[in-house]
Amino acid sequence: MTFRLLLVGCGKMGEALLAGWLAADLAADDIVVVEPEPATASALRQRYGVAVVADAGAPTSKDRPDVASPGAIVFAVKPQTLPAVADAYARFVAEGPVFLSIAAGRTIASLQARLGAEAAIVRAMPNTPAAVRRGASVACANARVTAEQRAVCERLLGAVGTVAWVDDEALLDAVTAVSGSGPAYLFYLAECLADAGAEAGLPRDLAESLARETVTGAGELLRRSPEAAATLRRNVTSPGGTTAAALAVLMGEKDAAVSAGGLAALMSAAVEAAARRARDLSQ
Ligand SMILES: NC(=O)c1ccc[n+]([C@@H]2O[C@H](COP(=O)([O-])OP(=O)(O)OC[C@H]3O[C@@H](n4cnc5c(N)ncnc54)[C@H](OP(=O)(O)O)[C@@H]3O)[C@@H](O)[C@H]2O)c1
Repeated sequence: MTFRLLLVGCGKMGEALLAGWLAADLAADDIVVVEPEPATASALRQRYGVAVVADAGAPTSKDRPDVASPGAIVFAVKPQTLPAVADAYARFVAEGPVFLSIAAGRTIASLQARLGAEAAIVRAMPNTPAAVRRGASVACANARVTAEQRAVCERLLGAVGTVAWVDDEALLDAVTAVSGSGPAYLFYLAECLADAGAEAGLPRDLAESLARETVTGAGELLRRSPEAAATLRRNVTSPGGTTAAALAVLMGEKDAAVSAGGLAALMSAAVEAAARRARDLSQ
């Protein structure tokens, strides 16, 4: 890519993006990171060879290399920090960059209110597997975003995983509930499987490693297979066998006292709760 990029906020998610960009086709020379904390800034310089400035928002700031005319400005700060940060970057709007925000719950309208009506804004929801370049992002653009800017954002997000687009920004609440929060559901599944294994008599460390390998191994199998998850499940479920016995409980067909409605009902309630919370937080 031959445009300049400003990354504002380089914590967990910002650093995952930065590492992905450098591993893909972005040159370190084309990236300027904004990180106010001197020790973190120096560590980022050493680790990635990128320019790091304390503040690119103030035109008079001394500690800044040339951040003029960035093609994209990526906001990866905490949602509560974003409004103040966006105010400081409104001065870039006239230079025509696309603003890509990954802040959970911060709507395009709230950013537009800070940056002005002319700002081209993409709001995206990535997830933490981005740290291993296996993230899943969903993005939504405002009407100011050109096809070229959309392609830029797709490549920036695509450097750390898959990218899908939605036209209806309200869908990002459901996206947050499925893929944004989803990794935690899988981690919890691994915890529960390990606990159940220990209860069944396995040594604790063996139960934990079996649960970890099973969740990650099955995930990899699902990723590599063209088959749907339901087909893969059926393929390993012989009628009357051990897997069928467990699935009857998980599907709420047996032992209804422990699993009324089964995992499907639980997952549906969990996703609904997360989506509701996402809606509340973006008010
Ligand atoms: N982590 C996730 O699973 C996830 C998933 C999807 C979306 N997101 C979104 O990604 C964003 C970042 O999350 P995170 O987990 O990466 O948070 P984080 O680790 O706290 O990173 C935020 C970074 O922004 C820096 N920062 C604060 N004020 C700044 C300013 N004025 N200018 C430049 N940088 C500034 C912070 O520096 P200091 O630490 O020095 O204050 C920190 O390095 C959030 O909006 C979150 O909603 C996160």
